[in-house]
Amino acid sequence: MTTPAPAASRKVFVKSYGCQMNVYDAERMKDALAGEGYSEASVIEDADLVILNTCHIRERATEKVFSELGKVREVHDARAARGEKTMIAVAGCVAQAEGGEILRRQAAVDLVVGPQSYHRLPDLLRRAESGARVVETEFPPEDKFDHLAAPSPTAIRGRGVAAFVTIQEGCDKFCSFCVVPFTRGAEASRPLARVVEDVKRLADAGVAEVTLLGQNVNAYHGLDEGGATRGLRSLIERLAGIDALKRIRYTTSHPNDFSGDLIAAHRDIDKLMPFVHLPVQSGSDRVLKAMNRKHDVAKFMGIVDELRAARAGIALSSDFIVGFPGETEADFEATLELMRQTGMASAFSFKYSPRPGTKAAELAEQVPEAVKAERLARLQAQEIQQRQAFNAATVGRVVDVLFEKKGRHAGQIGGKSPWLQAVHADGPEDLIGRVASVKITSTKPNSLAGELV
Ligand code: SAH
Ligand code: SF4
Ligand code: F3S
Repeated sequence: MTTPAPAASRKVFVKSYGCQMNVYDAERMKDALAGEGYSEASVIEDADLVILNTCHIRERATEKVFSELGKVREVHDARAARGEKTMIAVAGCVAQAEGGEILRRQAAVDLVVGPQSYHRLPDLLRRAESGARVVETEFPPEDKFDHLAAPSPTAIRGRGVAAFVTIQEGCDKFCSFCVVPFTRGAEASRPLARVVEDVKRLADAGVAEVTLLGQNVNAYHGLDEGGATRGLRSLIERLAGIDALKRIRYTTSHPNDFSGDLIAAHRDIDKLMPFVHLPVQSGSDRVLKAMNRKHDVAKFMGIVDELRAARAGIALSSDFIVGFPGETEADFEATLELMRQTGMASAFSFKYSPRPGTKAAELAEQVPEAVKAERLARLQAQEIQQRQAFNAATVGRVVDVLFEKKGRHAGQIGGKSPWLQAVHADGPEDLIGRVASVKITSTKPNSLAGELV
């Protein structure tokens, strides 16, 4: 017989997979649970509640979750042998996609909760504690963020100088390869004033950089105080007015939602960083059509050109999928060519992974695994070359660095350049949280070294 820990001394361990939105959600779940007396466990063995915050985007995501659950189960059983109860919850996009199947396949799981129901977590846990096995995968009409407890200043400080804030969630675009519209639901934007409030709270507690998150962040259309709809540029303008906030970023944007006024924001608003992540997926119009992306290569190139014209020195990154059904060698070469032509500073590339329930998974001409692997290796080799060239071009230049943390050795501090490169320099710890000028002296594969000027 196991006994639950007293409410005030309970600990929660959240393990997150997938995108930054999951990272942000994990923090908000912890904030909601702090109100229930839960503090954070530093190791899983100490946790009275384990939450796996899962991702469904690629690969055998579901199988990975079940194998991870097997490991959590061992911890659960070892604690049970000591008379300690461990609750196990599965959250995130696999929870949304698999629902009750998770309870059927892993008997130790108490709760399955989809991404839109985290504000109900305290309530759901109470139901689970009283012995029910709970599945909550509805898309409730209310906005979870309106109901989730705000983080305390202490919680914010513990999370560092740069923070994420979700401003838009869900997707109505239904690219033929993608599960996100199914796992995150319809696109919805948070009201402007709420986002501004959240960011002010973060800035007051020492956050200097905020990254606005959304599956299609530039489709943002939040209501303002007067009930009018405002786009991402208006929101960025409002946030730029917060003195203590030094840097603003946004991700992930979609080519079809890039308005002229957002492009011009990169010219007009200094705090908006000159680095844009703009996924294109493929350099072949034929493949883009089959992907249901609803844009072609020319449209993408047009946006790249406009961004470069709006702000000198702007850098870009992108996402690519190789081996989409029907992709030929010529299609793939067009992707490589787009990568080169746009001079991407970095990119993420993935082998196409058929996702259950999506249109592309049904297509006949699936590309053999070996071909996908070979194309991925070629694209990634090209990416490394471009990233290194981009990094090398900063050597000898003076760049602004927002220092975020202590470095690896004593006297060293680390931070980020405007283009999200990791930068290390020798300097005083009181620079952490501030932007300082650094002359870049050398580059390593994944970071830059420099000297304070
Ligand atoms: N909303 C963003 C992307 C979200 S998913 C956009 O539209 O660009 C992040 C990345 O995962 C995608 O850009 C895509 O490159 C990759 N991805 C999504 N589904 C995939 C799949 N089925 N197989 C391989 N990669 C995939
Ligand atoms: Fe997925 Fe496409 Fe929506 Fe991005 S725009 S989340 S790739 S469906
Ligand atoms: Fe993964 Fe869901 Fe994010 S599928 S990438 S955690 S939106």
